[in-house]
Amino acid sequence: MATDQNKFQAIISHCKEYGFVFQSSEIYDGLSAVYDYGQNGAQLKKNIRDYWWKSMTQMHENIVGIDAAIFMHPTTWKASGHVDNFSDPMIDNKDSKKRYRVDHLIEGHAENLSEEAGKALLEQMDNLLKENDFAGLKKLIEDNKIACSVSKTVNWTDVRQFNLMFSTQLGSVTDEASEIYLRPETAQGIFVNFLNVQKTGRMKIPFGIAQTGKAFRNEIVARQFIFRMREFEQMEMQFFIRPGTQKEWYAYWKEERLKWHLSLGVSPESYRYHDHVKLAHYADAAVDIEYEFPIGFKEVEGIHSRTDFDLKSHQEYSKKKIQYFDTEINQNYIPYVIETSIGLDRMFLLTICAAYEEQDLTKDGKEDSRVVLKFPAKLAPVQLAIFPLTKKDGLPEIAKELMDSCKSAFYCFYEEKDAIGRRYRRQDAIGTPFCVTIDHQTKEDGTVTIRYRDNMEQERIPMDKVKELVLNKINE
Ligand code: GAP
Repeated sequence: MATDQNKFQAIISHCKEYGFVFQSSEIYDGLSAVYDYGQNGAQLKKNIRDYWWKSMTQMHENIVGIDAAIFMHPTTWKASGHVDNFSDPMIDNKDSKKRYRVDHLIEGHAENLSEEAGKALLEQMDNLLKENDFAGLKKLIEDNKIACSVSKTVNWTDVRQFNLMFSTQLGSVTDEASEIYLRPETAQGIFVNFLNVQKTGRMKIPFGIAQTGKAFRNEIVARQFIFRMREFEQMEMQFFIRPGTQKEWYAYWKEERLKWHLSLGVSPESYRYHDHVKLAHYADAAVDIEYEFPIGFKEVEGIHSRTDFDLKSHQEYSKKKIQYFDTEINQNYIPYVIETSIGLDRMFLLTICAAYEEQDLTKDGKEDSRVVLKFPAKLAPVQLAIFPLTKKDGLPEIAKELMDSCKSAFYCFYEEKDAIGRRYRRQDAIGTPFCVTIDHQTKEDGTVTIRYRDNMEQERIPMDKVKELVLNKINE
């Protein structure tokens, strides 16, 4: 059985082999930290996105969804603080010329120390980061003799800030006025539309606006597959509340979002909360929901109490009044905001890691094994596979009939090639929860064999019950 690091590598290979994730522009040797989703990956990603969207909007009467543009007026990013503050402290090794994010460099070193020493080092780092003490951070790296992984030397530059936003030019005139950014978070598209949605939707506080979409960050240390990408997708929700109620709503969303994760059947021990020590420029409290990937506990989602920072700042920069009249207390105010922000690609990686199993099925000296992805039925890229036992005797026609009756309700896959056992294995590898085989008995009594992915058990059921069975599992 694979070790954790090996397991991560095995998952990456599996993602490629079975059409989940490909390196972007692979025929040109790829583009660092940019990935494409293949036929199974795109569907899995869409199913995760749809589940989030439904949970946030359809299941909450006071949350609506929007779809704002990636390009926004450049002043947006001045107002949001991203032009001045969206940067990470970096350090370069003078010998290898390799650039590191300071926290990643120190964290990497801490992982190789004893638990106690590692904890002490991270505590020192957190304090220095909090104080923006760059000279102190450099000294910490030097004192601990933290070396570059390429040159193996400790010959470091000073620590400097590096802005993570990508910029481009709008229109054909290349002067500074036309410089715009690719959004580094989707949240600002929600803030600048606060009044539009509140007024046209006659929304009453507390209410939320949700959105999914691409975000772009020029990550310096982009590694670990789709965990840290330069182009990725976020699923964010800004919840607008009365000032003074932020503590209770923060606690509410912290719990509510963990419940959402657990609703997908992943064991609670695989999750933990991590409170932020160094808060982003907009937050007065922040917590990460972390998942235990094969590479360790890592952030999947953030819940941030963003105060009235964004709306207030957009009011100041746009010179447009962005306020809400609360009829219950007869007062005008700028709402406070609790944000929930989850990376879709990270949720995708989590879903694959939680589902991936290598099983040894050797029995009576006969070697056998399988790789199975135990996705929840609602997320599986294919939900039902339909196999005629043979290509003749009218079996394909019956199988196609079943396919036609089911395909508008969920994703079906039809295959008539190879032995049934091999067809099952291929479906296990892409996580199809149910396979149905149509054989000669079907012609006699209208029953089919349904085979369950997780325990590999099989039973005969009436063909006209298949659709209902699958639908019930998907809607569980
Ligand atoms: N609007 C708040 C915000 O963007 P964040 O913690 O910077 O907060 C939120 O990002 C989520 O977006 C993260 O929890 C993570 O899941 C995802 N994310 C951030 N940077 C990412 C990257 N480079 N690649 C993939 N996902 C990323």
